[in-house]
Amino acid sequence: MHFNYLKFEKRGKIGILTLNRPEALNALNKDVFKELSCFLEDRETIQSIRVLVVTGEGKAFVAGADIKAMQEYSPQMAYDFSEIGKVVFDQIANLEIPVIAAINGFALGGGLELALSCDIRVASEKARLGLPEVNLGLIPGFNGTQRLPRLVGAGNAMYLMMLGEGVTAAEAYQLGVVQKLAPPESVLEISLELAEKMASKSPNALRLIKLMVREGLELSSEDAGKMESKEFGRLFKEDQKERKEGIDAFLEKRKPNW
Ligand code: HXC
Repeated sequence: MHFNYLKFEKRGKIGILTLNRPEALNALNKDVFKELSCFLEDRETIQSIRVLVVTGEGKAFVAGADIKAMQEYSPQMAYDFSEIGKVVFDQIANLEIPVIAAINGFALGGGLELALSCDIRVASEKARLGLPEVNLGLIPGFNGTQRLPRLVGAGNAMYLMMLGEGVTAAEAYQLGVVQKLAPPESVLEISLELAEKMASKSPNALRLIKLMVREGLELSSEDAGKMESKEFGRLFKEDQKERKEGIDAFLEKRKPNW
């Protein structure tokens, strides 16, 4: 598949997806979303990897939605753009494999929202993260107003959204937006190390962990707990080979072979 704004590389069981529009700091427009969607719908590629790492080319991860493109938007166009972004970011959030955002530089506005749709975030110590929409008379529109408070609580989310200044990677780490910091030159390497570790775990368990966390956040804790017990029980069905292999391997003092 040929892309203008994306690059994809496979390293063993890990896929590296790079947003590649560095002249505009990888700003997101409809064409970028179209390509992202195309990539995410390519089942053959997704099924051939165990973990996806998303990063940006150049000095930015993604500096947000394309402000130039938004200048002439009508209300309908703006609504549609918000919906397109949401669909694509939900595709990321709903992938059955872990997705790691390797934040190499600016992750602002829609760029931070992209990172929030990933499962965990590794950031360069030099990166700046934030939701500056308030400076443009806008609000986050790719689900950031919803994903951020679910991740870091309403207070921290309001702080980031209402100040619109952005924070250093170290502050983002303290707030819980970022899970790991890395020296600028090692962001990808450290993300790949985490990806390798995850790729050695049970793919079925990873898929279920992701599902339980994401779906559970939308349910009452009672219903979410029931859903968890149900899935835990299902793991013990006869056809659940990974559970059998995992427990057998432990008892036989060997590595599991998924
Ligand atoms: C379009 C962008 C862009 C963006 C940068 N560029 N961000 N183009 N949309 N979001 C372009 C610049 O215009 C410039 O193009 C080139 O990228 C390099 O950027 P500079 O500003 O020259 O770089 P620098 O001085 O290093 O500043 C970096 C920066 C700044 C601090 C990240 O670019 C910036 O503040 N960008 C905007 C960040 C932002 O407000 N994002 C939120 C957008 S709203 P030229 O052609 O001049 O070289 C949003 C809403 C999401 O995301 C929801 C929608 C539904």
